[in-house]
Amino acid sequence: GGDPWQQCMDTAVQLALRAGQIIRRALMEEKRVSTKTSAADLVTETDHFVEDVLISSLKEKFPLHRFIGEESTSAGSKCILTESPTWIIDPIDGTCNFVHRFPPVAVSIGFAVNQELEFGVIYHCTEERLYTGRRGQGAFCNGQRLQVSKVTDISKALVLTEIGTKRDPATLKLFLSNMEKFLKLQTHGLRIIGSSTLALCLLASGAADAYYQFGLHCWDLAAATVIIREAGGIVIDTSGGPLDIMSCRVVAAGTKELAMLVAQELLTIDYGRDDEN
Ligand code: IPD
Repeated sequence: GGDPWQQCMDTAVQLALRAGQIIRRALMEEKRVSTKTSAADLVTETDHFVEDVLISSLKEKFPLHRFIGEESTSAGSKCILTESPTWIIDPIDGTCNFVHRFPPVAVSIGFAVNQELEFGVIYHCTEERLYTGRRGQGAFCNGQRLQVSKVTDISKALVLTEIGTKRDPATLKLFLSNMEKFLKLQTHGLRIIGSSTLALCLLASGAADAYYQFGLHCWDLAAATVIIREAGGIVIDTSGGPLDIMSCRVVAAGTKELAMLVAQELLTIDYGRDDEN
């Protein structure tokens, strides 16, 4: 009896709240900003510090578990999902927002066992909203149950996307063509908020109807996928096939119909794979 991963999820919630405090405090201070893969791919000392706090605290409690973290991966750690219990962590999602004090800034903690996502915890640090999803047990925001929207018609949809980090001309052309398609289809609107995880939480809440992106990473997807599925939503690959969290691409929607319609429209942008770097 009992939930074997409950203690892990409770720890994730405590740590996400603690990370949120650190991030809120750092938000007000001077930041040293560095770039990673492009001029739009930012990292600060706080990203590194929060990732270190999260992973060292978790390692102490769960020494046999494995860890995938955004900044550890940038520093050369392998990004491979095995059968072992694995924590998939983004210490600051929305680093560019964090640097500019634009509100959507989150901590994202996902957890998988046997390559199946078990729970997700995402904390919107500036607005103090805690999103949680546990496989088979629903999704919640600050204790309130989440439910996706039931929109099936693309012309009635509010659509979210994110830009990704590449800025070369070929990528930008494809990115803008995709946006143009959804505007031509007479969707209600398109939004870019600067945090993949929080955009996916808005979808889980029913505040938006569809999401697509090329160039996000497993740490942007792991926690949010559980939350959306537990809120009744669909998370798939941009091809319309099953989701692969290492593939750097995703379509999510409140309904299967809308997810398939979005997937059909998209031109593919190649960002490689998280597990091939
Ligand atoms: C990024 C943000 C951005 C999205 C990227 C993500 P980071 O996360 O969510 O909006 O376009 O795909 O990687 O670097 O701020 O953790």
